[in-house]
Amino acid sequence: MPNLLAGKVGIISGALNEKSIAWKVAQKAHAEGARFVLTNAPLAMRMGEINALAEECNAPIIAADATSVEDLEKLFSGAQEQLGGKIDFVLHSIGMSPNIRKGKHYGELNYDWFQKTLDISALSLHKMLHVAEKQDALNEWGSVVALSYIAAQRAFLDYTDMSQAKAVLESIARSYGQRLGKQKKVRVNTVSQSPTKTTAGAGISGFDAFYDYADKLSPLGNAPAEACADYCISLFSDLTRYVTMQNLMHDGGFSTTGISEEMVEVLTKANL
Ligand SMILES: NC(=O)c1ccc[n+]([C@@H]2O[C@H](COP(=O)([O-])OP(=O)(O)OC[C@H]3O[C@@H](n4cnc5c(N)ncnc54)[C@H](O)[C@@H]3O)[C@@H](O)[C@H]2O)c1
Repeated sequence: MPNLLAGKVGIISGALNEKSIAWKVAQKAHAEGARFVLTNAPLAMRMGEINALAEECNAPIIAADATSVEDLEKLFSGAQEQLGGKIDFVLHSIGMSPNIRKGKHYGELNYDWFQKTLDISALSLHKMLHVAEKQDALNEWGSVVALSYIAAQRAFLDYTDMSQAKAVLESIARSYGQRLGKQKKVRVNTVSQSPTKTTAGAGISGFDAFYDYADKLSPLGNAPAEACADYCISLFSDLTRYVTMQNLMHDGGFSTTGISEEMVEVLTKANL
């Protein structure tokens, strides 16, 4: 169905390069008729790749560190100014763990960095929604989507403190979903995505192994970034107006599979 987002305006965070999930969401939102502002941390802007996406989608860019309420205030007021009114959809596609970056395993986490992980990857959603609420920046029946990972519910040790960040993120989506649903009929959901080969994904130790493991376990295989973007678009559209406060699995069936033929084959071969 074309033009699913015709007339809608939004804010899309987290497009770093063309592998980014947010990059695909922006391309698809543009194709479906939306207008939007792109945002990322000032540091990420220096790479400059976002400019190509902005040109392709005819989208202004507003830099904002998602941990800074002041930056987010400028983002939401700037976006409303540039787009000529209140916001219909927001994509939170932000994650970073200094502990993962520095290769710390779960037993040796640096607690200052742990707090940074939580601030960047989880509290930033609260800060965004807080600013949006304060500015009354969201339209009725608006939609907010944040990207999560199954390590919020299951132990994946190599995901270290990001597991806790995702659990907090999902919890914030529920609490703010209740608040904004009541106030403005705005829905807030998280999409729990398969392992995806992006800059953030590839930074996790053992990523290739658990990418292959998830792929072999999931009956549909790992969901690619493009398919995740399609799902986000459906959640921004009017077709999902009563879906809120959910953590929605977008994982090819991984989370509800015990064992697959492919895994049995791999393990049988390994034992020969
Ligand atoms: N790649 C995966 O395997 C996978 C799986 C499930 C969920 N996710 C989630 O998807 C989201 C997008 O990640 P991705 O895989 O597209 O990787 P990515 O590296 O392309 O995107 C992460 C983005 O977060 C931004 N960011 C980091 N710190 C920031 C800050 N202080 N302020 C604003 N932006 C900041 C980065 O600049 C980058 O654009 C993240 O929340 C990630 O945890 C990824």
